[in-house]
Amino acid sequence: MKRVKIAPSILSADFANLARDVERVEKAGVEWLHIDVMDGMFVPNITIGAPVVKSIREITRLVLDVHLMIMNPARYIDDFADAGADYITVHEEACPDNLRETINLIKKRGKKAGLSIKPDTPAEKIRPVLNNLDLILVMTVEPGFGGQIFIVDMLSKIREIRKMLRENRLFSANIQVDGGINPETAKLVKEAGADVLVAGSYIYKAENIAEAVKSLR
Ligand code: DX5
Ligand code: ZN
Repeated sequence: MKRVKIAPSILSADFANLARDVERVEKAGVEWLHIDVMDGMFVPNITIGAPVVKSIREITRLVLDVHLMIMNPARYIDDFADAGADYITVHEEACPDNLRETINLIKKRGKKAGLSIKPDTPAEKIRPVLNNLDLILVMTVEPGFGGQIFIVDMLSKIREIRKMLRENRLFSANIQVDGGINPETAKLVKEAGADVLVAGSYIYKAENIAEAVKSLR
């Protein structure tokens, strides 16, 4: 089985010691850093915005994977691109009128484009823009908060998307999962076809972060 990439979510980090907590996961050998942006509208929680991404960009070489949980994200693509994001992921449900346009905006800025779907959104919803995607994020919890329980039903959605990519000969797009990832669920999502595992609480609550990362692989 191919090696998965690990993307710690800084949602579970200590925001007053963010540089330290980024460095900790970087030293543990992770490839990506997952940054959860929430607007209090698309999800019932507010986190951080582009200025924080910019500050993180200055202290790390990790791939910056920005997960936008905000309504009409097209308004902010330039800000996050300027801030130094590598991947910009938007939600299908947050772009009811301009999904194709939003993905194109990300690509036009030379960034990797991701599309995320909530647990109740069917895989079919990604099909219209599939050819343009570098990443498909399957939410394995309802977005908004860290520390929730993995929704097992999402395994069949991961398999379905893997099949869709194969049938369309799209071999470079990543399938990412986010929510409730620990060593047990990591094994299940890998078998189902996930390439990039986001983990917040499991990594940041661990006594030994390097061991925690290893146990997810
Ligand atoms: C939830 C966020 C996740 C969150 C995952 O809306 O998108 O990235 O940090 O947290 P855990 O790994 O604790 O479920
Ligand atoms: Zn996330």
